[in-house]
Amino acid sequence: MKKITKAVIPAAGFGTRFLPFTKAMPKEMLPIVDIPTIEYIVREAMESGITQFLIIINEGKECIKSHFGESKALEKFLQEKNKTEELKIIHELPEKIHLEYVYQHQQLGLGHAVLCAKDFVQGEAFALLLGDDVYVGKDKPATLQLAEAYEKTGCSVLGTLEVPNCDVSKYGICEPEEQSEGALVKLKRVVEKPRLEEAPSNLAIGGRYILTPAIFKYLETQTRGAGGEIQLTDSILRLMQEESVYSLAIEGRRYDIGSKKGFLEATVDFALKREDLHDAMEEILRKYTK
Ligand code: UTP
Repeated sequence: MKKITKAVIPAAGFGTRFLPFTKAMPKEMLPIVDIPTIEYIVREAMESGITQFLIIINEGKECIKSHFGESKALEKFLQEKNKTEELKIIHELPEKIHLEYVYQHQQLGLGHAVLCAKDFVQGEAFALLLGDDVYVGKDKPATLQLAEAYEKTGCSVLGTLEVPNCDVSKYGICEPEEQSEGALVKLKRVVEKPRLEEAPSNLAIGGRYILTPAIFKYLETQTRGAGGEIQLTDSILRLMQEESVYSLAIEGRRYDIGSKKGFLEATVDFALKREDLHDAMEEILRKYTK
């Protein structure tokens, strides 16, 4: 089985849950301490063996390009001031990786955003990492866990997490085949944002996927679904008529940065894990939670 080397990162949505910040700034640029969310995601892909990256943006999100690109003026300034540490920080990613970009001109939904990656993917299986979901994998990065499951099965694999009943209607939900056990299971059905009474399980698709290129055939003809959007989950359901699709329970922690609570939790947790900020964050928490 050929290894997964391409990653698609959709980051073209309007981010309405994070207004007013997202009026002029992409939520994918929200900093978790001092690193933009999307950089954590690109690094996860790098650490999972990805060598080709595509970020899907829109006309208001050019600062994502700037973040990963060169900055001559800043470089000159840092050189003149002999700030070698800072120079290292801004050089690291542009030297290591080359990112490509494609524009989604109309925000018609995640399925439509993924369709914009068709030319980049060129008939290969690829990793899909949503631009506002950050993972801290337990022993391995989330995308690597999925890529290994793909190598075992040769099929699309959806990364899942268990969500409480109150949250099932916010996610794509998986129905595993009867008598399936373990973390990697074959799926019978997927449904986008079901009502709790109709949800087949609590296994939610959590922003990480490996998809085979057959998905594009279905995305091209996909009609609007939940919320009037072109839903990726609906195309995955149709793909299941042709190929097996699996889900894998991702080992690790996930932060939904597109939600205010997820953003706050990530900020606290990442700061607590940093040597230079651990004590300061503890002090802040003590002070405000007395
Ligand atoms: P979300 O559903 O979380 O993003 O999509 P949203 O629509 O931007 O946000 P809310 O729900 O209104 O707050 C998950 C990922 O897919 C991208 C988003 O940028 C996000 O990273 N996306 C979504 C697109 O690229 N295009 C779309 O049309 C929709």
